[in-house]
Amino acid sequence: MAVVLVLWLLLGQATGDPCYDPGGRPRFCLPPVTQLASGPPASCPQACVLSQGTSPRALCNDSLILALGGTFLLTSVSLRFCTPGPPALVLSSAWAAGGPWKLLWRRPAWSGALGGPERVTFRPSPGPKSRVVASHLRVEVGGWTGLAAAGVRGRCQCHGHAARCAARAQPPRCRCRHHTTGPGCESCRPSHRDWPWRPATPRHPHPCLPCSCNQHARRCRFNSELFRLSGGRSGGVCERCRHHTAGRHCHYCQPGFWRDPSQPITSRKACKACRCHPIGAIGGACNQTSGQCSCKLGVTGATCNRCGPGYQQSRSPRMPCQRVPEATTPLVPTPGAHSSDPQCQNYCHLPDKSVHMSLSRFCQQDYVLRAQVLAAEAAGPAWRRLAVRVLAVYKQRPSQPVRPGGQDAWVPEADLACGCLRLLPGADYLLLGGAADGPAPARLVLHRHGLALPWRPRWARPLRRLQQEERAGGCRGLQPRTPRPGPAP
Ligand SMILES: *[C@@H]1O[C@H](CO)[C@@H](O)[C@H](O)[C@H]1NC(C)=O
Ligand SMILES: *[C@@H]1O[C@H](CO)[C@@H](O)[C@H](O)[C@H]1NC(C)=O
Repeated sequence: MAVVLVLWLLLGQATGDPCYDPGGRPRFCLPPVTQLASGPPASCPQACVLSQGTSPRALCNDSLILALGGTFLLTSVSLRFCTPGPPALVLSSAWAAGGPWKLLWRRPAWSGALGGPERVTFRPSPGPKSRVVASHLRVEVGGWTGLAAAGVRGRCQCHGHAARCAARAQPPRCRCRHHTTGPGCESCRPSHRDWPWRPATPRHPHPCLPCSCNQHARRCRFNSELFRLSGGRSGGVCERCRHHTAGRHCHYCQPGFWRDPSQPITSRKACKACRCHPIGAIGGACNQTSGQCSCKLGVTGATCNRCGPGYQQSRSPRMPCQRVPEATTPLVPTPGAHSSDPQCQNYCHLPDKSVHMSLSRFCQQDYVLRAQVLAAEAAGPAWRRLAVRVLAVYKQRPSQPVRPGGQDAWVPEADLACGCLRLLPGADYLLLGGAADGPAPARLVLHRHGLALPWRPRWARPLRRLQQEERAGGCRGLQPRTPRPGPAP
């Protein structure tokens, strides 16, 4: 029962719209022919009838203008005369009241006195050239007779895009299909202007085609130049792109927004605000694909919110980061000054003066890096933040790999105060990481369990060899010592 009902509905849909074929493809369609105007009610003047066959001066000269109430495609004009006399006839049409009048049909008086037709019908010959589109008709009759009645039939001018029409509405309105609009379907709907509007023909329905606006705009306009440049494929330009999109197809983000790659372009969240730091960034615009703001000199970070390696924060909003002065200051108090402090007793794990780097020692390090210390600043009461540039990674941290290049490292103030680490800005160090885990394992932390040795170029080669041995599996069974909890940076 349900199947029968569904079939019936589908059939109803398919047969219900003559502008689409059963497969849903658009096709040429026409509204029905209707009676558009009729008149006049018996305008046979008495004199006309009386004068029949008597005096040439009493000939009738009847003229009638019919307003159709809109612009229509005429299919026939029927005229009935008062007598079967021989009328001379001039039929004209106009687009608007008052003309200009276009001659449709002229026929001279019937030769022979009587016996002409009581009724004549004018039909435009088929074909697009002889089509008659008119809002007003003028009938002029001369001869031995008057006009008894006139009837005009035609259909709404819907340009092949409608099968239904409100012919008596003012103005007559086609029920437009194929995504057209207007009283006579003479333009494309605002969302469907990718191609130029064209009237449908029996061979080609010329439907209006949608613009591709990625669901961010409801309107578009047709640009003939773009259409030409595309080789006749697409000419629509989306208007009023929403959700911070821009462009002909609303396919990229407005300035001040960037394209979130995790969202499809059709998503309302496809474009994200840039969030550039008001002081660190130059303007509020960021890279459309990466979200990177453009930073002032010395500033770094995606939003330009911190100073880069070798720069330190200043009070100037124009230059919020300034180059660290070349003259270096020790990061630690003079060696030994505090190490006599009782609190420092047995605090540092300072090795003998020379470090003998064997494979087993190498394997026990959490990491082995060559890095340059660029600058330092206090980061709270317990920590000092160093800007470092990692120049080489000989042994990688197992859990959180260290990347070469500029980054931050943290040192506990206490470890510096006791002289466990001696670091000077501008100098190169071999950094050995003793195992100790803080609660922020992603951070690079230097502390008293590690070592910072002023770099010697002659170390490079043996370290490379140790690195190769480790890669070849030489460290199996010689893991770093068990991590010890450390304070939080
Ligand atoms: C009707 O009379 C006018 C002049 O009054 C003339 O110009 C016109 O041709 C006449 N029409 C016919 C059909 O004889
Ligand atoms: C934006 O970032 C991408 C990738 O990070 C890069 O290839 C592109 O050149 C950048 N564009 C501009 C205008 O800087």
